[in-house]
Amino acid sequence: MAKMKLAVVVGSNRRDSVNRKLAHGIARLGADAFAAHFVRIDDLPMFNQDNEGNLPPEVVRYKNELAQADAILIVTPEHDRSIPALLKNAVDWGARPWGRNSWADKPVFITGASPGAIGSALAQHHLRSIMTGLGATLLGGEAYITFKPDLVDAHGNIGDESTRKFLQGFIDRFATLAARLSALTQARSAA
Ligand SMILES: Cc1cc2nc3c(=O)[nH]c(=O)nc-3n(C[C@H](O)[C@H](O)[C@H](O)COP(=O)(O)O)c2cc1C
Repeated sequence: MAKMKLAVVVGSNRRDSVNRKLAHGIARLGADAFAAHFVRIDDLPMFNQDNEGNLPPEVVRYKNELAQADAILIVTPEHDRSIPALLKNAVDWGARPWGRNSWADKPVFITGASPGAIGSALAQHHLRSIMTGLGATLLGGEAYITFKPDLVDAHGNIGDESTRKFLQGFIDRFATLAARLSALTQARSAA
């Protein structure tokens, strides 16, 4: 069976982002089911409703990448107990213009890491609330990851065994969810 297309959105533009490393590690865990594509969001202009009628080329590219995806993985840090402005900007461009919501009915798996004990929980909670409002189908469960230096090893794999098993469970369940939704969509368009 062909692999499903997984769009990966990382909520950090930091050069050495731990969330980007984590996202690569999760993409590897899901490689049997998904072909991962990392979607760039750091070149998107600041959202401005004045530009909705004539979308900037970066936004057109970004929305096409989301449209082509069977499933979306969002890995985000927490900034000031919410999602980073970078990610909120990308979420807003995805949601607009009205009638062209890129998130509607997309299966979305939200996770993220921070060095703090609650591992980006509040950011993820905010993002879940936003995405529910936008009509995405969220993978259930809570994947709050506390960043530790050995989280991702030198080869880009999730180094900590218990975290690797934990995230393997999530990405496997996500593959099942995405496959079911994709089969439903195909059945509907064939009917
Ligand atoms: C502006 C700012 C706000 C932050 N706020 C939080 C926070 O509310 N909770 C938290 O756990 N970490 C917070 N941090 C720490 C980040 O979790 C940490 O920098 C993390 O490495 C960011 O992920 P990244 O490496 O993928 O960019 C904050 C960092 C910055 C720069």
